[in-house]
Amino acid sequence: MKLLVTGGAGFIGGNFIHYMQRAHPGYEIICIDALTYAGNMETLGGALSHPGFRFVKGDVADREAVFALFESERPDIVVNFAAESHVDRSIDSPDVFLRTNIMGTGALLDASRQYPVRRFHQVSTDEVYGDLPLDRPDLFFTEETPLHTSSPYSASKAAADLLAQSYFRTFGLPVTISRCSNNYGPYQFPEKLIPLMFVNALAGKPLPVYGKGENVRDWLYVEDHCEAIDLILHKGRDGEVYNIGGHNERTNLEVVKAILAELGKDESLISYVTDRLGHDLRYAIDPRKIGEELGWAPHTAFEEGIRRTIRWYKDNRAWWEDIMTGAYLEFYAKNYGGR
Ligand code: NAD
Ligand code: DAU
Repeated sequence: MKLLVTGGAGFIGGNFIHYMQRAHPGYEIICIDALTYAGNMETLGGALSHPGFRFVKGDVADREAVFALFESERPDIVVNFAAESHVDRSIDSPDVFLRTNIMGTGALLDASRQYPVRRFHQVSTDEVYGDLPLDRPDLFFTEETPLHTSSPYSASKAAADLLAQSYFRTFGLPVTISRCSNNYGPYQFPEKLIPLMFVNALAGKPLPVYGKGENVRDWLYVEDHCEAIDLILHKGRDGEVYNIGGHNERTNLEVVKAILAELGKDESLISYVTDRLGHDLRYAIDPRKIGEELGWAPHTAFEEGIRRTIRWYKDNRAWWEDIMTGAYLEFYAKNYGGR
């Protein structure tokens, strides 16, 4: 079996490659990644020397490069993680989100038609459903919830989902889509809530909480997401969407306080800052379909996952300290300065 993994030098794609090499050591894995600010060869580390692994530096929106790769590699399965993934950056500069997330997915879908694949898996997000009200804890996102996006990021992901579904319906391409809730774990870029709070707290810097910190996210340990995708690739039904989440809802403030408690740091580090524009209130996944159809359930409780993740960030300082230079500091100043 030959897998083409796009965006594999990023957070979830990198964890997925490590996971698949453990779960299916005989599979060939080709990773294409443009190595944007979010891509890091250090994330792949030991995966690079695994037999059957190849890395190609390339842009998924570069159609010529994508077709050349399919021509030479002829993958059986495509798993599309490559994306611009940070909501705040999409509010600042939507263009690159349209290019990578929509045009990139389009190029991969066309190549997958020309060089037929057994499965095209689109890694999507629960953000395509928009948000749920804070005062209706009985409501959850199901696969039938209408798409209703809030940010340029989520709109670009929804566009990619619709495109992928159209290739199933119109051309019979064997597409599956997964929509997962917020992930956390090793190798997450310190622009996202959980790793940002770790690295700031470790440095004794303020922890910027948007608004009142009452927005709710449904957190999942990244390895549980990887296992769900593996199951979908092997047992999922063509044309289907699978929501992935573990009923682990927390307000942002609860998450930040749990991190401070775990690190033994004082809550006075919390700094309330101006809210994100269009800020989604609550995400909450109903994971019944993937549980009943594919037998998936998460293994990692939040407290255990946070402990493991903090341990990883403490043990792997070089990985994140190397990132937190020039362009990162510029982004930080732009996003948080005067907020
Ligand atoms: P990330 O930002 O950490 O990684 C993205 C990777 O894609 C990077 O390695 C980057 O270099 C690469 N990339 C970006 N543009 C590219 C291009 N044009 N061509 C090739 N490679 C390119 O993102 P992540 O958090 O790992 O998310 C991966 C996928 O999972 C995304 O599609 C995202 O929408 C989805 N997702 C993320 C979460 C989450 O909580 N992080 C939850 C659900 C779904
Ligand atoms: O739900 C899945 C999505 O989760 C993925 O599709 C996205 O790629 C991923 O980035 C994530 O989106 P969020 O916007 O939910 O994640 P983020 O870590 O940016 O923010 C989580 C919550 O924390 C959100 O309510 C905003 C808030 N926040 C975030 C940052 C970076 C803060 O309060 N302060 C911050 O500094």
